[in-house]
Amino acid sequence: MIRTAAPPRATGPGAAPDLGVTPDPEGAPDLGVTPDPGAAPDPESPSDSTAESGDRHASPLHVGIIMDGNGRWAQRRGLPRLAGHRAGARTVRRIVSAAPRHGIGVLTLYAFSSDNWRRPALEVRHLMSLLRTHLRSETRRCAEEGVRITVIGRRDRLDPALVREIEASEKATRDGGTLHLQLAVDYSAREAILRAAQAMAAHALTHALTRTRTRTRTRESDADAQTDAGDADTGDADNQADAGDATSDAFRTHLSRALHLDAPVPDVDLVIRTGGEQRLSDFLLWESAYAELVFTPRAWPDFDEDDLGSALADFARRDRRFGGLAPAAGSPWPSTDEA
Ligand code: FPP
Repeated sequence: MIRTAAPPRATGPGAAPDLGVTPDPEGAPDLGVTPDPGAAPDPESPSDSTAESGDRHASPLHVGIIMDGNGRWAQRRGLPRLAGHRAGARTVRRIVSAAPRHGIGVLTLYAFSSDNWRRPALEVRHLMSLLRTHLRSETRRCAEEGVRITVIGRRDRLDPALVREIEASEKATRDGGTLHLQLAVDYSAREAILRAAQAMAAHALTHALTRTRTRTRTRESDADAQTDAGDADTGDADNQADAGDATSDAFRTHLSRALHLDAPVPDVDLVIRTGGEQRLSDFLLWESAYAELVFTPRAWPDFDEDDLGSALADFARRDRRFGGLAPAAGSPWPSTDEA
C-alpha cells in the first residue's frame, strides 16, 4: 500500500497558528485539550486520539472522489437522469475494486451531499434506493475482499431501512484491512465542522466545571494551596508548547465522531472531481487542507481504471511541501519538508 508522508509537525516560533485555546493559568476553559492531572480519566476525552491524527510519519493514501456528471451523461444519451445514477453505481463497483491495485488505502466517495435534498423527490428517492441496493449487494463481496465500509454524514434524516443497511454493512466489513471505503451520504463538510466545534465547546465547558469544582475542594481542604497553584502554572506552561497540536488532534476526534467514525481517518491526499466542474462543493473541507486536486471532464459513469491511474500519475508528479520548502541543492537553509 502506498503511504504518504504526513505534514511535519511545526515546532519553530510562529510555526503553529494560535487557535486561541492555549491553557489559561487563571483557569479559563481549556477546550478539552489540556490534561488535568487531578481529574478522573474521561472516556469521552478527545485527547486520546489515534496515531492517525498527527503523530504518524506516513499514512495510507487517501483519495476522495466527487462523482459528478451522471445526469449529463444520461441526457447526452437521451436517457433519464436516473439511468445516469445507475451507471454511476456500476462505476463505483469498478473503482472500489481497482483502488487497492493502485495503492489506495482509503477511498471516500461523495454519494449524496446534504444539498442534494433540494433535488426533485423522485431523484432523491432513486438515489437513496440505489445506495441501499448497492450496500445490500456489495457488502458480502467487500467483506470477502477486505474492504471496510463506513458511511460518513448525518443519519437522522435517512430512511430507517437505509440506516439499518448501513449499520449491517459497517458491521459485516469492520475487519477489512485492504481498503477503507467511506461513502459520504447526507454529508456536508461545513455542517460536520460545526457539529464538531459544538461538541468540543460542550466538552470544554464540562471539563472546566469539573476542574473548578475539584480546585475549590482542594483549596478548601489543603493548607498548601499556594504550592498547588505553582505546580499548576508550571504544568500549564509545559502544555502550551503542544497546545496547537493537541487542539487539532482533539478537534479531529470530535470531527470523526460527528461523522459516525470510531477514530479519525488520515487527511485526504488527492481529491478527484469528474464531470468538468472545478470546485469542492462542501466535500472534506477540513481533511483536504493539503490535498492535491485533479479535475477531469470525464463524466463519472465513463470514469474507469485508466482514468484513476492517470489521476494518480498526475498526483505522483506533484511536489508536496505542506507549507515547507523543497530541498534545494546547495541551499544553506535546511528544509522543513519531509515529503
Ligand atoms: C452527481 O451527478 C452525482 C450525484 C449527486 C450522486 C452520485 C451517486 C452515484 C454515483 C450513484 C450511487 C452511489 C453509490 C455509492 C452506489 P449529477 O447528477 O449532479 O450530474 P450532473 O451534474 O451531470 O447533473
